[in-house]
Amino acid sequence: MIAAEIEREFNTHIQFEMASSYLYLSMAAWCDGQGLKGFSNWMRQQAEEERLHVMRFFDFVLDRGGSVRLAAIDAPQATWESPLAVFEAAHAHECEVTRRIHALVDTVLEIRDHAANAFLQWFVNEQVEEEANAADVVARLRLVGDDGRGILLIDQELARRTAPVAAE
Ligand SMILES: [Fe+2]
Ligand SMILES: [Fe+2]
Repeated sequence: MIAAEIEREFNTHIQFEMASSYLYLSMAAWCDGQGLKGFSNWMRQQAEEERLHVMRFFDFVLDRGGSVRLAAIDAPQATWESPLAVFEAAHAHECEVTRRIHALVDTVLEIRDHAANAFLQWFVNEQVEEEANAADVVARLRLVGDDGRGILLIDQELARRTAPVAAE
């Protein structure tokens, strides 16, 4: 069984991961509107990855005999100043996700829920990659600055990001 406190906090996190997916989908739409199909593709795959994160929490709560209660999700931001601003926002968002995952680990350790801790460790590792992926694009966008050709070069590269694979 899952403790009521963990069930509640995991439900809150399900909402946050879904909001993340929604945010990245909004970023994908904005990038597409700028003619940046590669940036849009990166964001689409990122949105899909966040949906898979939702499903990990969703299945874990149900497998432990808990209830999933989906909450309302606010409309995400729809416009940004530049591709750099989009990726800076994505990176800041991932840092917030990491903070929340670490807070969840603190909570499950307090009540010694070892199964929940083992489950969360996948996310602790995943967040290292999530922050690095966004930071990597931010760094390259800062290098090229306002150079349109540089931005298009990065766009071509991000077009190659493939769809994430669901957990078994
Ligand atoms: Fe996530
Ligand atoms: Fe993420």
